[in-house]
Amino acid sequence: MKKMIVAKSAGFCFGVQRAVDTVYEQCGKDNIYTYGPIIHNEEVVKDLENKGVKIVEDTKALIKDDKKDKTVVIRSHGVAKDIYEELKNNNINVVDATCPFVLKIHRIVEQESRDGSQIVIIGNEKHPEVEGIMGWSKTPVIVIDTVEKAQNLALDVEKKVCIVSQTTFNYNKFKELVEIIEKKGYNVVIRNTICNATEERQTEAREIARQADAVIVIGGSSSSNTRKLYEICKNECEKTYYIQTINDLDLSGLAMAECIGITAGASTPNNIIEEVCTNVREFCRDVRGIN
Ligand code: F3S
Repeated sequence: MKKMIVAKSAGFCFGVQRAVDTVYEQCGKDNIYTYGPIIHNEEVVKDLENKGVKIVEDTKALIKDDKKDKTVVIRSHGVAKDIYEELKNNNINVVDATCPFVLKIHRIVEQESRDGSQIVIIGNEKHPEVEGIMGWSKTPVIVIDTVEKAQNLALDVEKKVCIVSQTTFNYNKFKELVEIIEKKGYNVVIRNTICNATEERQTEAREIARQADAVIVIGGSSSSNTRKLYEICKNECEKTYYIQTINDLDLSGLAMAECIGITAGASTPNNIIEEVCTNVREFCRDVRGIN
């Protein structure tokens, strides 16, 4: 008898759900934009496009668009402080859907840098959330995401160091990098700003992958939190598949698996997860039955 385990934490987190709901609430009004794609999921982005929501990648594009009464929704990743100012100066309405957990990091970084701390962000410097966080610091920011970068870190010993994290960073890796920095003898303030939703999703994914013979991780190709889930699962279970929708899944790869785990990133809509579960369940039933 085959077994299928679906992660309870799979799919939209609180912040993403809130941001997506916010954009849908604005649909139907004139000249609605999102500052970057609202989530890393092509299906949702396409649906919003069909409803008239446009995506702008920067303030320049928005300012150049000569329509009146423009409204831009800031996505859950948040943006740098100067972007709010630029939008305000150009009379563009802002609907802020920045996740409250990201807003908290903005406040920490603004306050700590104002008080003279050197800011270290543990995260991916190219991720929009990290770019946004950097834009709240009053002083230059250092971003690290590898052991090597942590080892090479050379800061001013006279000044305090404040370490924050990208919300979706892997908790164990965060701990590892923090320990390396702490050993250097700086006066360090550590703010673990990894979101619980991420930790819970990662822990559950690891537990499922340990029991499973095959794991399916569902999420957009550019979703960093889905990629991290994939890495965690792949570490525990060699047969781990990263798919965007059911169309990417080669079901024959699951034929020999007795226990199949399914999880999904924070930006994966429920209907996509359900479609995968239904297809896997049907496939397993056809092969040998499932409980
Ligand atoms: Fe917010 Fe956590 Fe989601 S920071 S956007 S609730 S992963």
